[in-house]
Amino acid sequence: MKVLVVGSGGREHILCWKLAQSQGVEKVFCAPGNAGIAADAECVDIAVTDLNSLADFAEKNQIGLTMVGPEVPLCEGIVDVFKQRKLRIFGPDKQAAQLEGSKIFAKDFMRKYNIPTAGSEVFTEAAPAIAYVRKVFADGAKGLVVKADGLAAGKGVIVAATAEEAIQGVNQCFDGEFGAAGKRVLMEECLFGEEASIFALTDGTTIIPMASAQDHKRIGDGDSGPNTGGMGAYSPAPVVDDKVMAIFKNEILGNFLKGLQAEGLYYRGVVFVGLMVTEQGPKVLEFNVRFGDPETQAVLLRLENNLAEVLGKVADAKLNEVELRWTPGATVCVVMASGGYPGNYNKGFEISGFAEAEAAGTKVFHAGTAFKNGKIVNVGGRVLGVTAKGATIREAIDTVYKGVKKISWQDAYFRSDIGHRALKRGL
Ligand code: AMP
Ligand code: GLY
Repeated sequence: MKVLVVGSGGREHILCWKLAQSQGVEKVFCAPGNAGIAADAECVDIAVTDLNSLADFAEKNQIGLTMVGPEVPLCEGIVDVFKQRKLRIFGPDKQAAQLEGSKIFAKDFMRKYNIPTAGSEVFTEAAPAIAYVRKVFADGAKGLVVKADGLAAGKGVIVAATAEEAIQGVNQCFDGEFGAAGKRVLMEECLFGEEASIFALTDGTTIIPMASAQDHKRIGDGDSGPNTGGMGAYSPAPVVDDKVMAIFKNEILGNFLKGLQAEGLYYRGVVFVGLMVTEQGPKVLEFNVRFGDPETQAVLLRLENNLAEVLGKVADAKLNEVELRWTPGATVCVVMASGGYPGNYNKGFEISGFAEAEAAGTKVFHAGTAFKNGKIVNVGGRVLGVTAKGATIREAIDTVYKGVKKISWQDAYFRSDIGHRALKRGL
């Protein structure tokens, strides 16, 4: 079988790498891919949002399975286009993808199907939203979260500790900073606790959780500075203990599946549940209708199954035939970024040390890389995801940083404390 992966980040690199190793896969294509993906797949120059060209490519090249990485093509209806043309694809259709594409849609769904989440209100104008902010803080709230309803490339969420910050967030949304995504605003109760990410595969009839993970969203050590797409991840996340996992399966995944069925939503893909583990138990912060980046690099490195077979069973609604197997121990992924990210950064610097990093026991997944005059250079904010296994998280962390230290380019930046929460738990 030939497979097509849509996307160009570190998540897509591990997908291509694992699919290339899957028995039964003769060739992997990636649209558009990156310099590292080119070692595992043939990169084809089609944009992730050019849905018809992607479907044409799949048809012409007899692609047996298409796997979509990012949310934008899913929210734009890539699954609908492929389904209509009888092409096999992994993912939810456009309507179901609103679980990520509209935070208000997701919140209504959670409320209707008793999925634990933060309380919230919806606003379509600034003045009542601001009045609400003032009331909530006057009543003693310790925080408030302002969320633009639509997709905003991870930027539309403002976690405000004061009324002023919340009002600024409201104004950012209604002044159009996030475009159409900010026309409707969700104001959410601020939850406190430790975050975790758990993926679950579903075909609409069966739902299976994958191994847990934890991301590190802030740019700086000690979780300081602005938010990013994610600076590192590890799996499993010890905050997801047996009790949290039991609630996750019963109250969150169980009700999620009931909701899909009751609403008649077509979902044959992965749901990425962002959780806050509070004193009252786990609550859902968000649903994403795709794998997370960099959590996927940590989670899939532990997956022992044939990935193409698992994804194919999901697409065929035969997930009940799958039993996932995980390598014991832990994995850690450290993201190396261009200096200046998530703000402005310079591109085009030659990256060295790949072979040395892999000789140190790591696997290097590429995100923002490209070839320039035969050399690999940085072209994006997040550039590489250096990933390693270990018998314990401590061991995986030690190995991963040995690899990270072998890699260099001008202004390269990485966090030096990935996994710190797990270490604090004495693991
Ligand atoms: P989201 O894109 O909805 O996951 O939000 C991005 C980040 O904002 C999350 O990873 C959390 O760190 C934070 N966040 C979102 N919602 C809440 C909430 N209700 N309480 C506290 N933090 C939140
Ligand atoms: N790591 C967070 C995300 O993929 O959205």
